[in-house]
Amino acid sequence: MLASVATFAIEGVESREVVVEADLRRGLPVFTIVGLPDAAVREARERVRAALLNSGLEFPLQRLTANLAPADVRKAGPSFDLALAAAVLAASGQVPREALGSYALCGELSLGGALRPVRGALAMAFGARAAGFERLIVPVENAGEAALVGRLEVLGVPDLARMVAVLRGEWRPDAPAPPAPFTAPAPADDLGDVRGQTDAKRALELAAAGGHNLLMIGPPGAGKTMLARRLPGILPDPSFEEAVEITRVHSVAGLGDGTLSRRRPFRAPHHTISISGLVGGGSTPRPGEISLAHRGVLFLDELAEFSRSALEALRQPLESGRVEVSRGQRAISFPAAAIMVGACNPCPCARSKDECVCNEVDHARYARRLSGPLLDRIDLVCELDATAPLELVEAGTTAETSATVRARVMAARDRQRERLTGTGALSNSEMDARSTRRHVRPEGLARSRLIEGHARRALTGRGHDRVLRLARTVADLAGRDSIQPGDVEEALGFRLGAETVAA
Ligand SMILES: Nc1ncnc2c1ncn2[C@@H]1O[C@H](COP(=O)(O)OP(=O)(O)OP(=O)(O)O)[C@@H](O)[C@H]1O
Ligand SMILES: [Mg+2]
Repeated sequence: MLASVATFAIEGVESREVVVEADLRRGLPVFTIVGLPDAAVREARERVRAALLNSGLEFPLQRLTANLAPADVRKAGPSFDLALAAAVLAASGQVPREALGSYALCGELSLGGALRPVRGALAMAFGARAAGFERLIVPVENAGEAALVGRLEVLGVPDLARMVAVLRGEWRPDAPAPPAPFTAPAPADDLGDVRGQTDAKRALELAAAGGHNLLMIGPPGAGKTMLARRLPGILPDPSFEEAVEITRVHSVAGLGDGTLSRRRPFRAPHHTISISGLVGGGSTPRPGEISLAHRGVLFLDELAEFSRSALEALRQPLESGRVEVSRGQRAISFPAAAIMVGACNPCPCARSKDECVCNEVDHARYARRLSGPLLDRIDLVCELDATAPLELVEAGTTAETSATVRARVMAARDRQRERLTGTGALSNSEMDARSTRRHVRPEGLARSRLIEGHARRALTGRGHDRVLRLARTVADLAGRDSIQPGDVEEALGFRLGAETVAA
């Protein structure tokens, strides 16, 4: 007897349909799995056998062959267990074969027959809906996450016996609870704690308002790390769609907690991180830190200490907001639209200019790390001085709180969203060349300022567009539609630093 069941294999943050066929015929009792299974999938034989027997079901003592199709999709991990078990049950007549047609299934089995949660349930649910399935059976812990997809009946099942009951039409679980209401907790770190550093705070506000990448260069203890950690607190909450995108990436990486991510991620990898750790990859590609920071912040503290190759690998994702990994014939892509914030000292010895003990070679090596092409992708370069003693001592602080700044950021983001509806971009930094030309038209004096800027420091074509986008954000924060000369000037000011470092 032959039976087939649909399940899904994770590819990037997408999933592809995999059909599990089970063929049962007379012969010596062997169980073979074919169709590019990895070690975990081959081990499914043992889990399926034990789970069936321990659930009071029968494991057929015949020649059993399971095929996972299509053969070119790599099947990795234990999420195929449930579909394999269902196919075996259908082939041996323990559940009705015709019932399986409208279901897709995924889940890992324990030897006792309980279902264990799997990575990427949301991606599988998206796949199941797109492939036209009406129902998806998942481990009960994954049900809430999978149900975020909408327009798909998600059945959260605790064990194999209950799955059989569902397929026989004898039992139905309650619909999974809808995601909890949308309130992000207030971040603990407030911008009000930071004394002085007005320029850096301004840069941070611009980064938040337009989604621009930021580099802070300054002596030790100036407050760079402190400032960067306060960026999430001035960003607006993610929209429902953004929260689903964040959840999807984290779920594929096995970092999800089964609920909707209501906070923007803040990722701060150590500078010893590998290229694949930073941008993703591996034999079964997993998202890297830049993708885990999608719709949030990627903070690279001590930027100059990261390996040159790791930083170079960031260039493409910073430009396109996606990471492309090729695996054999196929290209797999991960979302990677994060605000990159870097922090570093002005030179390797990190002392003030007068006390610096670095020689020219040290300086050159340091500057080379922060290559021109990487810096060209950073809209805001901000040089910090040590915080003045008076500002640190002053007790009664008048510094603005994160809540105040965040309100301005949200107003600026609203203006952008309205203007960019239908372009696919969510913020000024994501505008493509055409939108940039269309929405940022400095005229008169503002235009002359831009040309002067070109003359002062050679701006690349990319640099030019990035100045325009940042000027757009400056105007949006001020609530203006037109671009003023001052907006261009401020944008150029944050840009020119970049050439100073690279020089
Ligand atoms: N402007 C500031 N206002 C208030 N506190 C500050 C400020 N700058 C530094 N501090 C205090 O100093 C500590 C260290 O600052 P921080 O770690 O941000 O420095 P940094 O610029 O990242 O230095 P490094 O280059 O060594 O990493 C902070 O945790 C804070 O307590
Ligand atoms: Mg620091």
